[in-house]
Amino acid sequence: SKGAAMVTAVAYRLADQRRQITETLDEFRLTNDQLLEVKKRMRTEIQNGLGKKTHDSATVKMWPTYVRSTPDGSEKGDFLALDLGGTNFRVLLVKIRSGKRRTVEMHNKIYAIPMEVMQGTGEELFDHIVQCISDFLDYMGMKNTRLPLGFTFSFPCRQTSLDAGILVTWTKGFKATDCEGEDVVGLLREGIKRREFDLDVVAVVNDTVGTMMTCAYEEATCEVGLIAGTGSNACYMEEMRNIETVEGDVGRMCVNMEWGAFGDNGCLDDIRTEYDRAVDDLSLNPGKQRYEKMCSGMYLGEIVRNILIDLTKRGFLFRGQISETLKTRGIFETKFLSQIESDRLALLQVRSILQQLGLDSTCDDSIIVKEVCGTVSHRAAQLCGAGMAAVVDKIRENRGLDQMDITVGVDGTLYKLHPHFSGIMNQTVKELAPKCNVNFFLSEDGSGKGAALITAVGCRMFSHIK
Ligand code: GLC
Repeated sequence: SKGAAMVTAVAYRLADQRRQITETLDEFRLTNDQLLEVKKRMRTEIQNGLGKKTHDSATVKMWPTYVRSTPDGSEKGDFLALDLGGTNFRVLLVKIRSGKRRTVEMHNKIYAIPMEVMQGTGEELFDHIVQCISDFLDYMGMKNTRLPLGFTFSFPCRQTSLDAGILVTWTKGFKATDCEGEDVVGLLREGIKRREFDLDVVAVVNDTVGTMMTCAYEEATCEVGLIAGTGSNACYMEEMRNIETVEGDVGRMCVNMEWGAFGDNGCLDDIRTEYDRAVDDLSLNPGKQRYEKMCSGMYLGEIVRNILIDLTKRGFLFRGQISETLKTRGIFETKFLSQIESDRLALLQVRSILQQLGLDSTCDDSIIVKEVCGTVSHRAAQLCGAGMAAVVDKIRENRGLDQMDITVGVDGTLYKLHPHFSGIMNQTVKELAPKCNVNFFLSEDGSGKGAALITAVGCRMFSHIK
């Protein structure tokens, strides 16, 4: 009959639609061999970043940090710390007490950095930062105290000492002019001078390094730091003899890998999808930080949004209507992805989250959206795990061990908020680096505490000179 024919036609159309959605998402599903290949390529890029002859053309820069050891518990004093480059800009006062009862007391205040300041001139950005420090000192009733300051600046820096770091290139959402190629400690000191007060800027610190140090303060086996947040990056203690870009062969130094740039030479092109390319093309820094754009919080939502736009165009979602909301960059923040993927959430709640974002969905839509989010974050966690597997195996080989236990200090909104990211990453590292027993240790507030610990070591080192 005619009715039966129509039912068959609808069923056929739905099956076809399902097949096409699955096919689209299949591009994001990596096989074990592909992941092993990613690990191997990361290892090659690490080698290139460390080598004297290969460093200049390398994508993963492996910047020396001049941090030569993890904390030993003797660090003490009062310090200011700045944390720039994560989800929030913060100013902190950190009080470290050593001795039998080691304690770290922290006070902090979050400040907004308006978009026009993030993407304005360098002078405006640093004036704003110094204005916030001054407000914080007022707030703490410490206007006239001159404290040593550690500057957590979570961007790629070419360091020549603990307190000098030339910004190589902005990443994530920043784009202030006249900063690239400049020493950011110098820019900060100039800003402080303009406001006529006194502070000793002792160290510039990457957030990964702060995270590692904070973790190592509690857990001596920690020699790796990982950030899975707005951006993605890692650091670890490398043997001096392997870091050909610094003089000296004795002991170890922490290297800031800047692994977000992995793939910028095209070495991940075979696994990047058209959606990854679209996200990259529309970003503030096209062609740069390609690995970061596949695995960090600032971009996962953008990948999701690009897939949703495509599925909508093909008539599989939102009744084929691309709303203004869906066209808006940055709508799917990490916290929304994390909520959508929460297992405790009923579909109705997923729909209500989409509603909050301004997206009218049917029940079927919400199932598809959740599936898209899950696929994209699964790949992100696996890619991040593959990178980490390369790092821990390198450390194990450095030490000539057949089997090694190691702790990784981790921080970042994606790691902390997402319901599945940490588990999948963990599992991936286990499978790809079976000779390492990796213990991930959530190291909260690494950017503040870690900067203070490094500043404490820095003050101790320089105290004989001053
Ligand atoms: C970006 C920055 C890097 C930072 C990471 C995590 O990749 O370039 O320095 O560690 O984000 O915040």
